[in-house]
Amino acid sequence: MTYIITENCIKCKYTDCVEVCPVDCFHEGPNFLVINPDECIDCSLCEPECPINAIKSDEDVTDDDRHFIEINERLSKKWPILTEIKDAPEDAKEWENKKGKLNLLEE
Ligand code: SF4
Ligand code: F3S
Repeated sequence: MTYIITENCIKCKYTDCVEVCPVDCFHEGPNFLVINPDECIDCSLCEPECPINAIKSDEDVTDDDRHFIEINERLSKKWPILTEIKDAPEDAKEWENKKGKLNLLEE
């Protein structure tokens, strides 16, 4: 089991989640964060920190989000670790809860 970050984080990237992780397994890309499933210890501390509910247990993902399991695994091998909160993008509010953001993910 692991926690994963799903579509709603794309272009919002609030980063409230990163500082509570005891094993530093968040990785940052240009407009999205992912969790390294090999490091995540399933502590669940990060899940309530995200203001837009983008973090889910891989046991709770719906079919709509299932492809994010592979995306978190793959991009966590490529992107650097982030451990400190940083400013969200200026237009983050406008992107909250928008559907169809996957094609905007910058890898
Ligand atoms: Fe880190 Fe725990 Fe969240 Fe996994 S569930 S990413 S270990 S805070
Ligand atoms: Fe993304 Fe939510 Fe963390 S928007 S960066 S998963 S706090």
